[in-house]
Amino acid sequence: MTAPRYHLTSYGCQMNKLDSELVESKLRQRGYQAAASEAEASVVLVNTCSVRQHAEDRVWSKLGRLRLRKRSEPGLVVGVLGCMAQEHKRYLLSRMPHVDLVVGPSAFGDIDVTVDRARERNARIAAAREPARTRHEVAGAGVLAVDRGQSGDTIRRDVRVRPHRSQAFLSVMRGCNMPCTYCIVPTTRGDEVSREIADLVDEAQRLCDDGVTEITLLGQTVNAYGRDLTGRNATLARLLRALHEIPSLRRLAFITSHPNFLGPDLVAAMAELPKVARYLHLPAQSGSNAVLKQMRRGYTVERYLTRVEQLLAAAPDYELHSDFIVGYPGETAADFAATVAFVQRVGFAQSYVFKYSPRPGTRAAELPDDVPDAEKERRNQVLLATQAAISLTQNRALVGRTVEVLVEGASKVAGRLSGRTVHHRLVHFAATDAAPVGSYVPVRVTEALQHCVVGELLGPNDAEASAYDAAAATQAIGQGRA
Ligand code: 5AD
Ligand code: SF4
Repeated sequence: MTAPRYHLTSYGCQMNKLDSELVESKLRQRGYQAAASEAEASVVLVNTCSVRQHAEDRVWSKLGRLRLRKRSEPGLVVGVLGCMAQEHKRYLLSRMPHVDLVVGPSAFGDIDVTVDRARERNARIAAAREPARTRHEVAGAGVLAVDRGQSGDTIRRDVRVRPHRSQAFLSVMRGCNMPCTYCIVPTTRGDEVSREIADLVDEAQRLCDDGVTEITLLGQTVNAYGRDLTGRNATLARLLRALHEIPSLRRLAFITSHPNFLGPDLVAAMAELPKVARYLHLPAQSGSNAVLKQMRRGYTVERYLTRVEQLLAAAPDYELHSDFIVGYPGETAADFAATVAFVQRVGFAQSYVFKYSPRPGTRAAELPDDVPDAEKERRNQVLLATQAAISLTQNRALVGRTVEVLVEGASKVAGRLSGRTVHHRLVHFAATDAAPVGSYVPVRVTEALQHCVVGELLGPNDAEASAYDAAAATQAIGQGRA
């Protein structure tokens, strides 16, 4: 009998993408095979995101298409995984009979068994927490409830199953305890749960033994890592120092940070450890104190700026990345102008800008969504243009300089390769066998665009090849290569 074929589509954040890797790793260990396309799969899984309505809408329309397909293919197994499974389990179970599996992010640990049971017993299965935040299964008419289930991280990960040979994500904590009024994540992902340092070092070592040289640590508030591990002195700073010891690791990054947890010990580790990537994703969300207060972010513009100044005083080679929400309830033209001025003042290298999207069940959803959509769109465009102009200026300053690029693969432009610098800047250059995927190569920047730079690969005999930018050079010194 041929192995059952699955297809998994993933939406949402990096955390979700890593969850999808864990799910795939479990399924393959159990003998499932990845189908070449969704049409060829007998098990179709969708790992979903609830952070904005738009992300959910894409899944609802996909589920509509799968409903039609299932009419002619009754044996098809359809599974909704992740944040929407957690958030909408009752609706999915009661109103979408073509959905066989509803599995929240806390129940990925035995997803393989769950899929098996759905296939073999032809049963519908739900595994998701109750809103009360205790793990609990919901059984409905004709629905089989499972009572096993563990977070995807409590199982030993098969480190060989991953999309990139030299780059890997490592989930250091799950969940979020912050009170941000607009955000659904604490509801869908539950309370913060950090993993032990020894466990993380072990997994990182296994990844590096399998060829990984760049690790990105993941957590919703990654710099709050360890605060639930009371008495163990586990902090992100200590974790970075421990992982830094792995000899074959070359780059170590972490996303996403909260401004309130950027303390002196973390700043010191970021400044001292040469392998730590030179960018900090530190979402500000707004540049208006009134809006920040409404959002319950727990800091002011002034405090954010002080934290950033402290970091840059200790480690001037860091670049900052941010997220912003425009059109939050009550955001005035003056609030928005303050955000534009703030972006210019900090000079972020990159910002993601989102139009506020009310999430039912959050505190903000009880407020009137009073910025009209056309105005949200206008603010979105203005802020994006503000950021693009800053990025372009920063990218232009790199023209003529040489940067170290970790080659990631073919670029979207034919005939080109792309990769990233230690600042996470995207670099494109002409494809050549001299720069295999996973290698670190010197590239001289020749052209600056808004979201990337273009350059030329330098050969081993090129005198400039050793003249990396400051951060890359420091990195090389850290590895005894300079
Ligand atoms: N509406 C719009 N954007 C949101 N984000 C989180 N919740 C919402 C929402 N309800 C944004 C924040 C966060 C990023 C991952 O998504 O900027 O940092
Ligand atoms: Fe989306 Fe947040 Fe869930 Fe990630 S954690 S998938 S961003 S809702």
